Amino acid sequence: MSESPLMQLPEGFRALIVGASGAIGEAFQQALQQDPRCAEVLGLHRQSSIPIDFAQEASIAAAADALKSAGPFHLIINAAGLLHQAQQMPEKQLSQLSYAQMLNNFSVNTLGPALLMRHFTPLLDKQQALMALLSAKVGSIEDNRLGGWYSYRASKAALNMLVKTAAIELRRTQPHTVLVALHPGTVSSALSAPFRGAEIGRPASQAAAEMLTVLGRLTPADSGHFLSYTGEVLPW
Ligand SMILES: NC(=O)c1ccc[n+]([C@@H]2O[C@H](COP(=O)([O-])OP(=O)(O)OC[C@H]3O[C@@H](n4cnc5c(N)ncnc54)[C@H](OP(=O)(O)O)[C@@H]3O)[C@@H](O)[C@H]2O)c1
Repeated sequence: MSESPLMQLPEGFRALIVGASGAIGEAFQQALQQDPRCAEVLGLHRQSSIPIDFAQEASIAAAADALKSAGPFHLIINAAGLLHQAQQMPEKQLSQLSYAQMLNNFSVNTLGPALLMRHFTPLLDKQQALMALLSAKVGSIEDNRLGGWYSYRASKAALNMLVKTAAIELRRTQPHTVLVALHPGTVSSALSAPFRGAEIGRPASQAAAEMLTVLGRLTPADSGHFLSYTGEVLPW
């Protein structure tokens, strides 16, 4: 990327990607490394030198603490998320629901990102900052036409509520911070692979570039929105 899409951020802005080991997280990190206006981009994941594991609550506060002196950050993106595991494919019907699967989905897609907002919003630059949490259009209650994918849908809908609620608080306490839930569209990755993601998804590099373009257009008035990679405001 020769030109920076994030022109509203200051020259030499600092970025942090959580879930940087995933397809989209890695693509965000690479795009920002090529952004001439980005001074540094740090990537965190479960195996990074400062580890962050959404199944381990204490790891989130510990990571924020370890990064205090590396901030303030102007851009934080959460690209971690969970749709399926070996023995847990998305539920197609009520008879497949279990506490175990719902707890796994909620811990990675909802609880971890919520604590990320708690512990990492204080690391944002008070003059100007963006924080985006990757959600999913299937988390839209209004847009739910097909049913199924109970845990994933519910965990992303709950994430959307937490983002909206936090954005209302930040409007008072950090009025120059923009906080959004962001839908990446279908992207070829390990997460989408069992659902023909490689065939119907876009490359992660393209998705990251499109989402950075959307982020680059945001102002504080957009905080609390649920946005698509196209820039469209999605229904809750
Ligand atoms: N791909 C799509 O079509 C699509 C569509 C809509 C929304 N999304 C959302 O986009 C985000 C990124 O998805 P992706 O396609 O890039 O998936 P991916 O390649 O499977 O990456 C998932 C990321 O989540 C991390 N993760 C999983 N469990 C974790 C935990 N307990 N703690 C911390 N990190 C954990 C993974 O870390 P490890 O490497 O350690 O496993 C990895 O970095 C997700 O939030 C997903 O819901 C994706």
